[in-house]
Amino acid sequence: MHQSGRKPKLLTDYAPPAYLIDEVELDVALDPKAARVASKLKLRPNPDLVAGARRLALDGEGLSLQSVALDGIRLSREDYALKEGSLSIASVPAKPFTLEIVTLCDPEANTALSGLYRSNGTYCTQCEPEGFRRITYFIDRPDVLAVFTVRIEADRVGAPVLLSNGNLIAQGEIEGTGRHFAVWHDPFPKPSYLFALVGGDLACVSDSFTTASGRKVALNIYVEHGKEDRCAWAMDSLKRAMRWDEERFGREYDLDMFNIVAVSDFNMGAMENKGLNIFNDKLVLARPDTASDADYASIESVIAHEYFHNWTGNRVTCRDWFQLCLKEGLTVFRDEEFTADTRLGPVQRVVDVRLLKTHQFPEDAGPLAHPVRPASYIEINNFYTSTVYEKGAELCRMLQTLLGRDGFRKGLDLYFERHDGQAVTVEDFVAAMAHASGRDLSQFMLWYTQAGTPELACSLDYDVHAKTARLAVSQVVPPTPGQTKKEPMLIPLKVGLIGANGDELPLKLDDDTPLAGGLLEVTQREQVFEFRDVPSPPTPSLLRGFSAPVRLTTSLDPGQIEFLMLHDSDPFNRWQAAQTYALTLLTAAARGKGDRARVTDKAAARLGQSLGATASDAALLPAYRAEFLKLPSESDIARELGRSVDTDAVHTARETLRAAIGNAIREELAGLYERAAPSGPYSSDPESAGRRALRSAALDLLVGTGEPAELARAERHYREAANMTDAIAALAILSHLESPARDRALDDFYARWQEEPLVLDKWFAVQARAARPDSVETVQTLLSHPKFSLKNPNRIRALIGSFAQANPTGFNRADGGGYRLLADQALEIDRFNPHLAARLLGAFESWRILEPHRQARAKAVLEDLAARTLSTDSYEIVTKTLAAG
Ligand code: PHE
Ligand code: ZN
Repeated sequence: MHQSGRKPKLLTDYAPPAYLIDEVELDVALDPKAARVASKLKLRPNPDLVAGARRLALDGEGLSLQSVALDGIRLSREDYALKEGSLSIASVPAKPFTLEIVTLCDPEANTALSGLYRSNGTYCTQCEPEGFRRITYFIDRPDVLAVFTVRIEADRVGAPVLLSNGNLIAQGEIEGTGRHFAVWHDPFPKPSYLFALVGGDLACVSDSFTTASGRKVALNIYVEHGKEDRCAWAMDSLKRAMRWDEERFGREYDLDMFNIVAVSDFNMGAMENKGLNIFNDKLVLARPDTASDADYASIESVIAHEYFHNWTGNRVTCRDWFQLCLKEGLTVFRDEEFTADTRLGPVQRVVDVRLLKTHQFPEDAGPLAHPVRPASYIEINNFYTSTVYEKGAELCRMLQTLLGRDGFRKGLDLYFERHDGQAVTVEDFVAAMAHASGRDLSQFMLWYTQAGTPELACSLDYDVHAKTARLAVSQVVPPTPGQTKKEPMLIPLKVGLIGANGDELPLKLDDDTPLAGGLLEVTQREQVFEFRDVPSPPTPSLLRGFSAPVRLTTSLDPGQIEFLMLHDSDPFNRWQAAQTYALTLLTAAARGKGDRARVTDKAAARLGQSLGATASDAALLPAYRAEFLKLPSESDIARELGRSVDTDAVHTARETLRAAIGNAIREELAGLYERAAPSGPYSSDPESAGRRALRSAALDLLVGTGEPAELARAERHYREAANMTDAIAALAILSHLESPARDRALDDFYARWQEEPLVLDKWFAVQARAARPDSVETVQTLLSHPKFSLKNPNRIRALIGSFAQANPTGFNRADGGGYRLLADQALEIDRFNPHLAARLLGAFESWRILEPHRQARAKAVLEDLAARTLSTDSYEIVTKTLAAG
């Protein structure tokens, strides 16, 4: 690997491109081993720059150059320099000129899945962030925007469907050759990362959407033949997303056609290429018998996410890759709002915060911590992180909280008005918000530049005589790699004061005006807010709706937390109180050794009672009630412990609490289980899905008791399941056990679904996640299963990814076997798909919070990895993970 590729790139080194490309004409002749790409570029010197040396450098990777011509004259070998990574031409005109370049590339040998590759025989492309340079030489950066016209030519039989961005303008046969062609034109200037092309033999499911202004848009979803009956949910989600974006944000679709293609080999979830989204088929295909409610939910949000990018990402794009959160954070925020508005209501916040805390908090607390807008990177592929995505979304949400829904909308409108068709920065986005609202947001910018999760400590004192409640708040932003000193941030802190009878007390600060929405703005390291006219001692409800991505510590005692878990009118905080209560018990138990690593039955019974009461409250949404029955995960407990984590003790603590709660409220859970039984055919509506979630959460606690009757119930649940949601829920519960029931269910599932790749992935994943002493060996054995293959990323993620990221006891097994397994597999994968290997290696990010013995094992494996030949992607992850904190 080139050492030069390992030098960090810096945000402060940004310089505008020396040349602009206004138009691109591509002529692509598809061929499995030698695809020929003829490109005609209309270039001109960037008028914003003072004329300097007229040297032109184009990016290119793994291409075989056939010819270069400048203004129609073929260049000879001396006129240009070719090295790995670039083609440069020493002298080009100081006025507009045309460059024609012919190259060959090898789609079939492209196992990195970046550029032009083949998935199950279908030609497809992935260009974000730097894949276009693997298709042709280009100025491959997001601030070069061009109008593309693309001619694709291919074998008629092998690739009857030929797609690119924009609108189809011509197509036909090439007589006597068995080949045909299609010409696509995209009128919107776009950066190269949004280019896409597809060629294959695919089935098409069509529909249409009429926009608010009355334009009819053709909608097509392309899938493998035979999968047409699994597109209905994706299509429905798309139409609802299109409508919602018009209603909530006034954003209409802008082309006559919107195409989605599902492919089975894809490094990520999906890609927002202009007018031609390409999806991992896992995020398109769904039928009640093959996809679970969780799959339906991901499909809906990713379909919406990619569609929303049409405005946030495509019409207004990023100046450079440091600004990635500009499109990703904002678009995640938009898809979260979509799901909250149209489907889950307040439950969405619980789901989103759980995701944030599970993935982003550990990232922010570990060796890979980086600001939402990083200031440096070695490999940009490593920065599609939950910090950029999920924390990035939280920053947009905080802006909306600070400015109000209308204020945020005005800011976003101004952003589009000012920057449509441009490649911009985070500063441009925040400036639009500031100008539209008249607020100074300079302190808010720290959220984009300072890494680390702020720690917010709150304590409330009540003065009986003065009838005042003083809320003392302090904030600390912990040091992160490369950032030791931090400034205090602007933290929107939503609060409520609850009276003894559960009523909300009025919130009045010094100046007599009631505090709108309970929103406090914390701006200093230490701050006191004094509430007046508080009639009786209140219980504070703090950080309502998780109004900022911080770690909150409070002075609340267990009685007050219990009170909130039953009475808080803020649904998020009510759920959070239940989690906090459980976590207090769990961390105490996990810190104990041997027999002390248990939760007392009395405390558990008390928690069980409260959880049971909420879960049985028919006035609440079933999906919300289900969340109360899900105990904090092992990774929640580990994160809360923060140091010296023994993953076995964590597991034991959780299992004892699970059993104790199951025993304490067994009758009630059994009643819930019965009452939530399905009453009709499968429907994906939130009510039905919520009932299924509630029922399987109850089942999980019941089986935790270890009672044979409950095991039998789980086996029955599996056998009688009429949809994938119920089947996989039962299978997951059974998978941890040592029981013939487990083996029977796994065998049955395999026999039924072995020919369905996406469903078979679940079979691999459920075994990889099972917390059993032999899980390392199980995964090892499955690696040689005839249906396992390293060629498909979904399969790799199902087995190796699930094991490393979702099986804390197995992966962190005390003998280090889990670490070795991941390292060996990642090394092999790194040779053909660095991006995927580096993502898997992210599982090592929390090694420093482990107890010393496990830390030593992890460190040894990481050091061994660091001594091997690694791709730039994996090199960056491994060296940063190892670097001293
Ligand atoms: N931009 C894609 C998304 O969020 C993610 C992606 C990144 C896909 C890189 C492929 C490669 O929506
Ligand atoms: Zn995105």
